[in-house]
Order: sequence, then C-alpha cells, then structure tokens
Amino acid sequence: MAETNNTPLLQALAQYLSKDMYPLHTPGHKQGRYVWPIIKELTKDLLAIDLTELPGLDDLHNPQQAIAASQQQAAVLFGADRTFYLVQGATSGIQAGMLALGSPGKEFVLPRNAHRSAYAGMVMGNFKPRYLSPVMDEEWGFPLGVPTAQYEVLDKPTPVLLLNPSYEGVAPPMEQQVKMLHGKGMSVLVDEAHGSHFIFNGLLPPSAVAMGADIVIHGSHKTLPTMTQTAMAHVKQPIAERLRMFLDILQTTSPSYVLLASLDGVQGYLAKDGCEDWARAVTLAEILRRDISNLKEFQLLEDEYVRNKGMGELDKTRVVFRAGNKIDGFTLARMLREEKLEAEMCGWRHVVLIINPAEDETTIAFISQRLRRVANRIGINSARDASFNVPLIGQTAAFSDWDVVLNPRQAAFASSRMAALKETVGEITAEAVVPYPPGIPLLWPGERITQEVLERIVTLKRLGAHFQGIHDCDLNKIAIISEVKEC
Ligand SMILES: Cc1ncc(COP(=O)(O)O)c(C=O)c1O
Repeated sequence: MAETNNTPLLQALAQYLSKDMYPLHTPGHKQGRYVWPIIKELTKDLLAIDLTELPGLDDLHNPQQAIAASQQQAAVLFGADRTFYLVQGATSGIQAGMLALGSPGKEFVLPRNAHRSAYAGMVMGNFKPRYLSPVMDEEWGFPLGVPTAQYEVLDKPTPVLLLNPSYEGVAPPMEQQVKMLHGKGMSVLVDEAHGSHFIFNGLLPPSAVAMGADIVIHGSHKTLPTMTQTAMAHVKQPIAERLRMFLDILQTTSPSYVLLASLDGVQGYLAKDGCEDWARAVTLAEILRRDISNLKEFQLLEDEYVRNKGMGELDKTRVVFRAGNKIDGFTLARMLREEKLEAEMCGWRHVVLIINPAEDETTIAFISQRLRRVANRIGINSARDASFNVPLIGQTAAFSDWDVVLNPRQAAFASSRMAALKETVGEITAEAVVPYPPGIPLLWPGERITQEVLERIVTLKRLGAHFQGIHDCDLNKIAIISEVKEC
C-alpha cells in the first residue's frame, strides 16, 4: 500500500510519541508498561484478533460460551452476582444503570459533581434531576463529595447515583450511605469509574460492590491494564435482566473483540496477581507522596484531610497536589509537561497524577526528581511575584447554586439560537458547558445562566481549560433556548 501523509491524527500520535512523555494518566496500561506478558503476546498482532461473532467466539449480546465464562469469572473476582462487559466505556454502563433503576418523568437523585454521562442519562430516561450539593473545598477549589446527612433527608424512594471516588480519588463513607439508602427503600447505582482497583488492596477505599450497591460501574481502562473504552457493570441478581436489556439497547452490535479480549485478559491477570501488584503500587505511591510532602513548594491532598471533612477516605494511588495559591493547576500541569511528566488532569489549583503497577522504584525516583525541578522553578518565580493569588471566582456557586428551568430532556429537544456568552446572564442554556477533564458540567441544557457561572467559564477559559459540549469551540458564543417543544 502506498504511503500517505494525509493522516492528521496518525501524525499527531507519532509526534506525541516522539516527545517521550511519562504517562501519569489513563489508560491504566500506560502505553504498554502495565500488561500481563500473555496479553502482550496475544495483542501483539491486534488486527489478527479483531474478529467478530464467528463460530466458537460467542456473542456479547447473547453470551453462552467464552464471553459468558469470562464474565462469570469477573463476577466472582469482583464479588458481583453478575458482571457485564462494556465496550463503550463506563458511560454506557452509567446510562443503562439509570434506565434500569429510574422511571420516566420521575426524580433521579445525583450529586451535582456527577460525570456528564449521568446528565445525558437524564435526557435518555426523561428523569427529573434532583441534585445534591457536594462539600466544596475552598482551599483546594474542587468538590470533595456529598456528605451522608444530605441523603438522610431524602423522603421519596427515588433511585440514587453515588460517586465512588471523585476524580481526585475522594471516596465517601460508602458503607454508611448504601445502607442508609437501602433502609429508605432506594436503589443505588454507583459510578465507580475510577475505583476498579479498590478490591485489590486493603489500604484502598472499599468497593461499592462489597457494600451491596445494586449496580456498580467500573471504568476498567482508567486504572487497570485494559484498553480505552473497556468497562464493566456489576449487578445484583434481581435487577440484572433489566440492566442487560438496556445495555443491549445502548451497546453496539459490533463489539470489538480486541476490547473484549482485553477485559478477559484483565480478569485472568487480576485473579492471579492483582493483590500482589496493587500492594506494590500502593507502597510506591506512598514513596512518591512522601517525596512530594518534603517539597515545601507543594501541598499534598492527604487522607486525614478528607476524613476530617466528613468523607470516607482517599485513594492513595491518586496523587493530588498544588503549589500553594501562587500557581493555577493549568500552569502547574504545563510545568510538569516541560519536565516530560503528563498529568491525568488539572483544576484551578491542583494537578492529579495516577500511580499504578506500571510504576517501579526507578520510575518513581524519576518522577520525584522531575517534581523537584518544578518545585525549584516555582520557588524562584513566586519570590519574584509574591502578590499573585489564583482567584476562585464562582467556584463554590457552580456546585451549590443551580436553577433547572427545563428538564434535561425538554431542553434537549427545544429550539435554540446562538448568543454572545457575555450577554447571556438570565438566559436558559441550550448546550452543556463541560470542562474536560474532569467532565463535570458547569451548565447543563435547561439551566439558567448565572453571573457566577459565567465568571467561572470566563476564568477557566483564560486559564486554558478545554471544554466539551459546545458549538463554538472558542466559547465566545453559546446556544440558548429560543422555543420549547412538547416531548
Ligand atoms: C467519574 C466518571 N464517571 C464516568 C466516566 C465515563 O467513563 P468512560 O470514559 O469510560 O465512558 C468518567 C470519565 O472520565 C468519569 O470521570
């Protein structure tokens, strides 16, 4: 076949690889650093196993042979009644879970810092969102999680979505919350996209599967050595068939066997070596945490800190830190990048690094050494500009103050027109404004645009945030609702 250079994405990938960045982000296999040898061998020739429902290869939509056996083994491993493999990310699992537990036109309870996939689930199911406000940490500038007291006051038997953990690795008191909600007759769906590894070490937060949640969604690719888009849904028997039906509706009829093989491989690997490898990863993350705590320029998010704020505990393999108030998270991530470290994400003041069994003593020493270099540069610069302080404009308001004028489904089918962003205070947004990562919407269609949220969008833009959900990629304009249709 003739060579062509008319392939912008391939070229961008090649260029990215040539930079030789160290991955502190998803997917969990970290560009092949964390892979079981047998999987490496099998996936060496990816196109050879990119097959379809041929005799002997089973069918994801009616599994009776190899896929059924593999899912069954995964269920045993993760302690679920049944496990379904997902090839469209945790997104499809969260949405199928919401459809399985919710009723059209009725309420669905979810934290305001839920991932955008759950907001989209409300459009699909025509649910009325009942948002709960997470504790907003003024010092760090991100939401920690929803305290148990907020669930205590819920009166109607409404389905609830819990988040375990947040993007920053903060897990709520899961056992307490699941028990209390079940006691009120509420069904519980847990977005455990970032917690697929929890069961493999006792120093990590507990998995919601063990806490008896009805449906738990794992974004396997985020921390485990599987390929991007792979995920699992773990479910209790009484709701399993309902969930299967919605997964059948949402998932492609051509599931990738490469992705399915990746999921099969990971359950085989974890059953054998999961505990040993994750014990090593937790120890290595502790070493990195200690090294960061020794740098006076950085503050580390600590387990004790989140417990004191009423949360359950911190995933110690999420290394979250900031450089005081002098440098915003976007600048900090850029400085790390200049030292060949690619973070998972950054926010107003902080960056998030993901540590997993891909790391070893040598790479942890390398990361620490590069962080020392960044700290030295910050030390010099902040002495020069001691007055600079990253503002936290509108940060709290976004998670505690919202005005849902139209239900998400009504808003999705409404007509819209474009308007200059700065003139939209008081209007109803027709589009989502979602900084990505972390994928938590600042605005969802049907909500009134407030001055605080507008200021937050403008400030995030200035800092260099990347947004999803919008028509105008520069976000100078935004779509607002012009006419509502019956739906
Ligand atoms: C908390 C949370 N839930 C769900 C998702 C969706 O996961 P996926 O990208 O696998 O669809 C994400 C993705 O970033 C997430 O952060």
